[in-house]
Formats: sequence, structure tokens, C-alpha cells
Amino acid sequence: MTTPPLSAEQEALFRRIEDTRDHIFVTGRAGTGKSTLLQHLSAHTSKQIAVCAPTGVAALNVEGQTIHSLFRLPIGLIADQELEQPEATRKILGAIDTLVIDEVSMVNADLMDGIDRSLRQARGRRAEPFGGVQVVMFGDPFQLAPVPPRGDELAYIRDHYRSFWFFDAHVWAGHDGGEAAGDTLGGLDALGRYGAQLHIHELRTIHRQSDDGFKAMLNAVRHGRVTADIAGVLNDMGSRTPPTPGPTETPIITLATRNDIVNAINRRHLDALPGTAQTANAEIMGDFGRGEGAYPADAELRLKVGAQVMFLRNDVGAYGDPPRWVNGSIGTVTRIAGGSVRVDLDGEEHDVEPAAWEKYRYSYSPLSKKITREVVAEFHQFPLRLAWAVTIHKSQGKSYDRAVIDLGSGAFAPGQTYVALSRLTSLDGLYLSRPLRPSDIRVDPDVQRFLASRRAPQAG
Ligand SMILES: Nc1ncnc2c1ncn2[C@@H]1O[C@H](COP(=O)(O)OP(=O)(O)OP(=O)(O)O)[C@@H](O)[C@H]1O
Ligand SMILES: [Mg+2]
Repeated sequence: MTTPPLSAEQEALFRRIEDTRDHIFVTGRAGTGKSTLLQHLSAHTSKQIAVCAPTGVAALNVEGQTIHSLFRLPIGLIADQELEQPEATRKILGAIDTLVIDEVSMVNADLMDGIDRSLRQARGRRAEPFGGVQVVMFGDPFQLAPVPPRGDELAYIRDHYRSFWFFDAHVWAGHDGGEAAGDTLGGLDALGRYGAQLHIHELRTIHRQSDDGFKAMLNAVRHGRVTADIAGVLNDMGSRTPPTPGPTETPIITLATRNDIVNAINRRHLDALPGTAQTANAEIMGDFGRGEGAYPADAELRLKVGAQVMFLRNDVGAYGDPPRWVNGSIGTVTRIAGGSVRVDLDGEEHDVEPAAWEKYRYSYSPLSKKITREVVAEFHQFPLRLAWAVTIHKSQGKSYDRAVIDLGSGAFAPGQTYVALSRLTSLDGLYLSRPLRPSDIRVDPDVQRFLASRRAPQAG
């Protein structure tokens, strides 16, 4: 994957990860280049790293493995269950210097502690947090949160943890009286045991937007501090009717809260186009797990000429050529024939071929004493999805110049409205299907507390 040259703050953080063994949480507002830094790290690190993520699709996006499969952890609550570790798992976990976790805001406290225990056990270093492995995590807890636990899981988490968030895991115990610097969690827990120290690094420069006024409004939404003035500006701007884009202009996508709304919008538009739809079936080799949510793209992609589509991958064009599209680019299908789909992007046509998503597994090579990655499953499909509409959840990580934000009956998750608005590169591109309401702006109180404790550390 190609990335832009790193900024000074990204570079400094890269060096900090490379040159120390500190546990680091790389966070920052939407568009500050967290994903860019992660890509750079996986391409350029000199350490033995394993990259993992909480969900299958998130793992595919960073060419890593899911946390559960890397650690062979049981699904559901881990608590103090005995952890069975096959020899192969022990070997891999024994060989890594650094564990990289993407989308860490979707890792809950129980899983974080499971990772800690698993590493201590595999490496035979039970007194050391994470068995001596450096843990580097990426995410923004003000964007969409972990799926809240239910039933027994919820009862257990309530009894054992301050909240379900990864930053409340016991491995970071003692953080209330932690280091005075204010960017660190860690110290001694209630029993006087040594807990790991979490160094929090916030990337500050926003690269996605350039207008300072818009950045300040987004920040207010992020922190739930939207004043009547700010709401007025957003709602005035958003209340315009979206234009009908001309033939060489980028179509406008709708970001909506729920899957059923998105599917209905896409189906309605597809049905309204002349001709019959053609279906591209994904070729799936190996095991991707069950359920539609396990796949990185539609298993059955229905398209017609005229369909509005979004790219799901960055272009890996010919060597040295600039990429023709990025993950999130929106265009229109102009031809479907001969195993390729022609897509008009801003007035230029490109023939798009199926892409391969590779599911990786780490393994240990006794010969080189290094960990290597092997492909265990492949998913081949056009890197396209119908894009008259997409859910706000699926828009995470992407950038759009213009979008209609449809909050329908209301944002239902903390961070949802922030994710939606922060996809836009400028305020000029904002269209709202209805005005924002105060109840659409939701911030998780545990995230607020986490940030506050870090900004104003308790003395002693
Ligand atoms: N150093 C940089 N120079 C120029 N552009 C950059 C730089 N870093 C990131 N960008 C660009 O800024 C945009 C946002 O970057 P990126 O997706 O990495 O941010 P993020 O923090 O992961 O955002 P989000 O929280 O929304 O996922 C991308 O278009 C990316 O290419
Ligand atoms: Mg990102």
C-alpha cells in the first residue's frame, strides 16, 4: 500500500514505536492520519510484529489476523478460563516483539486482559504485562464504540470492570494515580501488582479537512459541545437540496444510520435503472467464517449500467502510476462486459477487475526463527459496492467531498453523528436530510471520563 509521506508528528510517533518498547495508544481526531501511520509502520518496521484487529473485515483491511484467531481465544467472555495454546500459537506469540491492534476501540476490557494473559502464558513470563511484548494500538474512542456486552457478559463486566472499554482493562491497573505527565495510564493496582503503562499519543494535525471553522465544529460534535450557533451553521448549510450532479461530476452518497434504510435506497435506485441487473458472484477459497458480515465485499454483487458505486480498495495500478481510485471513491458504472466493469470517475473511465482480499495467518519459521505470514483464504470480487447509500458504520475510515447525511429517526450510537460529519472534506459538501437534533450528538460518558482523567491527572 502506498501512503503519503509522513508529517513530522507521524514520523516522531513512528520513531517512538520503533525505538522504544513502550505500550502506545495512537489516537486522534478523524482524519489525523492514524490509519496512514499504521500502514507505514507495517511496511517499514524492523521489529517482528503481528498486526491484528477485532473483526474479520478490519483485519483484512490491515492485512492482519483477527485477535481471536491469532491468540486462539474462545468466543464470548474469557474471564479466567484456562487458555489452551497449541504449540504453533505459543511459537508465534513467543517470537513477536510488538503486537499492533487496529480498531482498538472495538476491543473490550475482558478481551484486552485475555490478550495479556495469553502472552504471559505463551512466553512463560507470567510476572510481566503482555509477557514483555510491546503493544501498539490505533483508534479513536469518540468514533463508533464496541458492541455493548449483553446478558452474562454484561453482568460479568459490570462486576469486574469500571467499563467495557479496553482502557479500563486490569492490565492497565492503577491508572488513577498514574504518572504525572498526564498522557500515561499505569502503575500499581489495588493489590500492589505492577500494571502496564499505556502511553497515549494524540495525532493533532487534521489532514482530511483544511477549513479551521469546520474543524472546530467537528471537534464540538466529537465532544458533545455543540452550541446553538454551531448547530445553526451546520443546519443552514445542510438544508440545501442536493444538486443533481452533471455527467462528469462525482455522484453524491447518502450516509444513513441503519442497514435496512441503506438497502432500500440502493434497491430502489437500481430497480429504477433500465435493463436487467447482472450479478457478479464472489469466488471464495478457504474459510472466511460464517455470516455475510465476515466478507469484505458482497458475495453477490448486483450491478447495472448507470449504477452508482463506491470503491472498497485503493488502486494497486501499474508500477509507479498514480492510483486511479482510493478506498471510498465514488463513480458510475458505464459498461459491464468481458469480466470487467467500466466505471466513470470524475469524467474518466477505468476498467475495474476483480480484486483479491487475502486472509492471513501468522506462523513461526524455526529455520529463520522469525514469524511469517501465509494466506489461508481468498475472496475475489469486484472492489465495488452500490453506493447511492452506505451505513455510517461502513463509512468509517473513508473520505467524501459531498454527502447527504440521513439520521432518520435519530443517531443510536455514541460517535455516530461525529463519524458521519467527519467523513466530509469540507462544509460545502454537507447536505442533511433533516436538521440535526441535540439527541443526535451522543458521547459515551466513559470516553469522556478517560479523556478528562488524562488531561487533568489526579495528584498523588
Ligand atoms: N502526512 C500526510 N500528508 C498528507 N495527507 C495525509 C497524511 N496523513 C494522512 N493523510 C491523508 O488524510 C486523510 C485521512 O488520513 P487517515 O485515513 O489515515 O486518517 P485517520 O486518522 O485514520 O482517520 P479516521 O479516524 O477517519 O479513520 C487520508 O486521505 C490520508 O491520505
Ligand atoms: Mg482510520
